[in-house]
This record gives sequence, C-alpha cells and structure tokens, in this order.
Amino acid sequence: MKGPAVAVEDITRVFEPRRKRDTRVVALDRVSLDIPLGEIHGLLGPNGAGKTTLVKILSTVLVPTSGRARVLGHDVVAEARAVRPVIGIVFGGERGLYWRLTGRQNLEYWGALYKLSGSRTKSRAQELLERVGLTDRADERVETYSRGMKQRLHLARGLVGDAKVLFLDEPTTGMDPIAAREFRSLIGELKGEGRTILLATHDLVEAETVCDRVTLIDRGTILATESPRTLGHVISRFQRIDVEGAPPELLERLRALTGVASVSVADGAARIEVAEEGTTGSVLKLLVDAGVTSVKTSLPSLEEVYVHLIGDRGLDI
Ligand SMILES: Nc1ncnc2c1ncn2[C@@H]1O[C@H](COP(=O)(O)OP(=O)(O)O)[C@@H](O)[C@H]1O
Ligand SMILES: [Mg+2]
Repeated sequence: MKGPAVAVEDITRVFEPRRKRDTRVVALDRVSLDIPLGEIHGLLGPNGAGKTTLVKILSTVLVPTSGRARVLGHDVVAEARAVRPVIGIVFGGERGLYWRLTGRQNLEYWGALYKLSGSRTKSRAQELLERVGLTDRADERVETYSRGMKQRLHLARGLVGDAKVLFLDEPTTGMDPIAAREFRSLIGELKGEGRTILLATHDLVEAETVCDRVTLIDRGTILATESPRTLGHVISRFQRIDVEGAPPELLERLRALTGVASVSVADGAARIEVAEEGTTGSVLKLLVDAGVTSVKTSLPSLEEVYVHLIGDRGLDI
C-alpha cells in the first residue's frame, strides 16, 4: 500500500445539544494528520481535547460531521467494514472486558468475533497470554486481576485480530509506574513488528518516551505535530541561554532587552529566557561583545512547550 497508514483530512465533529440546557460542542475542528506506516504517533492533550473522539472516528465507532479519514487506504465511513479487520482498539480503564470470564475466555471470545477458526483462536489466545505475561493467571476470572493485568489483557484483546494499526486510548491510565513501564516496552515491541500505533494520552512522559512523533491537541484543534525533541523548536521564543561569568551589570542590560523574559542567577551561572523570536541573536551578541564566551543555548523540553501552549489544564506531569 502506498501512502500513510492513517490519513485524517479536515475532520470536524460536532456534538449537537440533545437537551435545551446542553451546549453545542465542537469536539474536533478541521483536524488533519498523517501517520506513516510503522510510526508510533502520540496524540497528546488534556481532558476534553478531542482525543477519544478522533480515536472513535478512526475506529469506525463514530461518524465525523465533515471531513474524511482513511486507515490503510480504506475510508472509515464508506469502507468501515474493510477498516474493522485491520485495526485493534485498546481503551484505557476497565471497559470492554468480561469480568466473570477468565482472561483466556475473554480472548477466545474476541477471536470468535474476528472469525478465527476454533483451533486458531486457541493458539492465538495462548500466544497473546504469553506475550503480555498473563499465562500464570490465564484461567482465573478477570475480576481477580490487578489494574495492570486488566490493561495487558486489553492490549492482548486488541491484538487478537493481528491488527496492523492499533489505536490505544489512554492505555496506562491508573496503572502503577512499573506496570506502565512494562506496558510501554510492549508498545515498543509492537512497533518492532511493523505495526502503526496511535497512542492517545494526556501523559507527557508517555508521549516523550514511546512516540516517534507527537501531535499536540487542545479544544479540538491541532497545535503542532513534531518529534518530541523538535517540538521545542515550535516555540523558539522559549529558548534559554545559560552563561557563566557574566558580570551583574551585563545581566541588568540583558534583563532590560526587549524579548528577554527573565534572567535568573544561581551559583554564579545565569539563565536567560527568551520570549521572542530573534532575541537569542541579540543576547548572544551582547554577551560575546562583553567577552563572555561560556554560553550554552538549549531548547525547552516537551513539558515546557506543553505548559506554554496548553497551560495546566488537565496536565499530568
Ligand atoms: N457523546 C458526546 N456528546 C456530547 N459531547 C461529547 C460527547 N463525546 C465527547 N463530547 C465532548 O467532546 C469534547 C472532546 O471529548 P473527548 O474526545 O472525549 O476528549 P479527550 O478524549 O481528549 O478527553 C469534550 O468537550 C466532550 O465533553
Ligand atoms: Mg479520552
């Protein structure tokens, strides 16, 4: 197949009010996004940003108000039946599992839905239980599982049909840190198998550690799509300059410079934060002219970019 694994073109989704006191919600506002084959793509944004809405549209559960999207070349509305067999969906939390059934029975049930043969279903379930480290508890009821175990079973469920494209919606929500780390390394293995993954999360660390690229989304609008490291470039105004040995009067002059947001001093070293594009050059020139050569510039972390763009709404650092 040519083209991206997931192509989103100008998708808008509006929720019209059902009762008088409800307001109209534009959950997605002309969202466009391409995810190449084999990429782990993060969809990072606070609660209410529109992440789940996009995941639902891509997994054919919800229809967009306008725009179109394709998964492995198939239109998610017109060719929904072709999309379903090639995708796997993993929702966070504890929905979608049958608590009274064992882990193995849950997987076999899903195997049947994917129309695998009886023997294929059994071997696939065993394979996946091994893969997610649940063989010991496979024949116990899901209600006895820890949160992390339920989540791993969820992932196994998403893989029953051998999906080439996986949609993971907040998969590590509520997991303890160790379980979350193990889960993330599993995601890495899936990438190794050439699968394409869209990972919706409000967790910066998760986005930064597992994703090849990250799309920042807030209030239904995409703010930026970049690799976690280069996202810093998006806000060059946030650039910082660390200097050693700058005399106090020079720092005062820098502080007064237009475009300089702050100058802080600690242990003889100063950090200058730049708030406007192009200011870094003027700062550097002043420093060099004054004979200060111990200078280091750096870009903000994804976390700083996020805080800057989105503020602290629903932020999980
Ligand atoms: N079925 C629905 N009816 C009305 N509003 C909805 C519905 N589903 C989601 N929304 C609204 O759409 C916005 C985006 O929600 P959602 O996609 O769940 O965000 P996220 O997953 O990023 O937290 C929110 O304002 C939410 O309240
Ligand atoms: Mg959500």
